[in-house]
Amino acid sequence: MKYASQRVAYWYFVCAMILFGVQIAAGALAGTVYVLPNTLSELMPFNIIRMIHTNALIVWLLMGFFGCAYYLVPEEAERDIESPLLAYIQLGLLMFGALAAVIGYTQGIHEGREFLEQPLWIKIAIVVVALIFLYNVSMTVLKGRRTAVTSVLLLGLWGIAVFWLFAFYAPGNLSLDKVYWWYIVHLWVEGVWELVMASVLAFLLIKMTGVDREVIEKWLYSIVGLALFSGLLGTGHHYYWIGAPGYWQWVGSIFSALEIAPFFAMVIFAFSMVFKGRKDHPNRAAMLWSLGCTVGAFFGAGVWGFLHTLSFVNYYTHGTQVTAAHGHLAFYGAYVMLNLALISYAMPYLRGKAPYHQTLNIISFWIMSGAMMVMTFALTFAGAVQVHLQRVMGMSYMDVQDEIAPFYWVRLGSGVLVLIAALMFLWSVFGPVRDRRVAAQRKAQTAVQPAE
Ligand code: HEM
Ligand code: HEM
Ligand SMILES: [Fe+2]
Repeated sequence: MKYASQRVAYWYFVCAMILFGVQIAAGALAGTVYVLPNTLSELMPFNIIRMIHTNALIVWLLMGFFGCAYYLVPEEAERDIESPLLAYIQLGLLMFGALAAVIGYTQGIHEGREFLEQPLWIKIAIVVVALIFLYNVSMTVLKGRRTAVTSVLLLGLWGIAVFWLFAFYAPGNLSLDKVYWWYIVHLWVEGVWELVMASVLAFLLIKMTGVDREVIEKWLYSIVGLALFSGLLGTGHHYYWIGAPGYWQWVGSIFSALEIAPFFAMVIFAFSMVFKGRKDHPNRAAMLWSLGCTVGAFFGAGVWGFLHTLSFVNYYTHGTQVTAAHGHLAFYGAYVMLNLALISYAMPYLRGKAPYHQTLNIISFWIMSGAMMVMTFALTFAGAVQVHLQRVMGMSYMDVQDEIAPFYWVRLGSGVLVLIAALMFLWSVFGPVRDRRVAAQRKAQTAVQPAE
């Protein structure tokens, strides 16, 4: 850790990981309700558990991004964070809002739109959090050294805040409502979040491979260009069946098919930098998560996205388990893995210890990623059967659900493995470390001063 104020990132990661735990636990519970429908039915209905699962996911990913920014911006800008105090206030407010939302949900206090279920006052609190954050990070960047990494990161973070404002616009007309709802849900994950992803990856690769900044920067700008070029009009893949004009069938199909490009570019980028650069970085776990994240995103977002993005395919798959399969692998591969990569990288510095628990961390990588793949395949097969029986043969929704129950058992099994792997990960970054060097130093000191 080069700058004392980077320490705030530690607390962001702690809070993010608490909500990660809540998210996975709620997912496992939701998966249980799917196969044993009476689970907790008196206490908490499925829709509430699902809401906690998806909302906790989004909030912890954002919290992780904030932590990433507070960790890397000082090193890039070569100065301390403008105001660490503001950063802590921001974190407190966000964590309070998140916990209040979860408690509110269990009491049935929520609004109707998926992912945007938070009550109005929490939505407003999120704006305040964003303003504090943007002020703090932008001032740090503007007064310090400016790099491509921080420019792209800032563009992404400002974009997140700007698109969030559409959460306040809920027109009564359902078609219009959906059009703007996707400004947040789509333009975040397939637009501005990709900029955050590319810049955090670039930072990790600069640090771990030692490759020249100029090379990394060229890649970074190409990825940003590809992401924005394809992702903005790619929103059209959500406008096929909501009552929007027919030209979206073409625009959505063509531009969203191109959305694979930036994810593919990130794979080539990461692997070629590692190939060119030093291969001796001691934090092998962080390297594995960084590379794995590009591959996970390519499959989850790119391949599984393309699978159902053309309008004549989506006509059949829309809103089936195919969508859930894609949603899981895309969020996991791109943004969960990205956060776990930076946390694995930063935590040894934040705690002042040499990279530790490497093997445990690496095992958790394989179990978690393997289990998410199994879950994705189970849901994809469930979706294929569902499309056939329900959309082609015309069987009723609930009869089809009975037919695909075995796949839901597989999802539950793999979900429990994800939970176990998550606990292993948490232990590997937060667990106690016996620092042999410090212990040896102490021993040496007491040896030369026996009188004390
Ligand atoms: C990391 C990036 C991505 C994430 C996190 C993500 C996540 C999601 C999620 C959660 C949904 C379900 C939304 C809902 O209806 O509640 C969804 C829908 C969809 N995604 Fe993605 N996605 C990503 C990238 C992509 C890409 C690159 C493509 C195309 C190549 C794509 C194509 C689609 C399509 C067509 C749907 C609509 C499915 C339907 O009609 O039911 N996604 N995505
Ligand atoms: C880090 C890993 C995970 C991520 C990123 C994730 C993400 C998501 C997302 C984005 C959705 C909404 C999907 C959509 O609208 O199509 C969702 C729903 C769901 N997730 Fe997860 N999830 C994860 C882990 C889990 C685990 C471990 C389980 C355990 C079985 C699980 C079970 C569920 C269930 C049952 C739903 C509701 C599906 C429905 O309404 O049909 N998730 N998850
Ligand atoms: Fe999309």
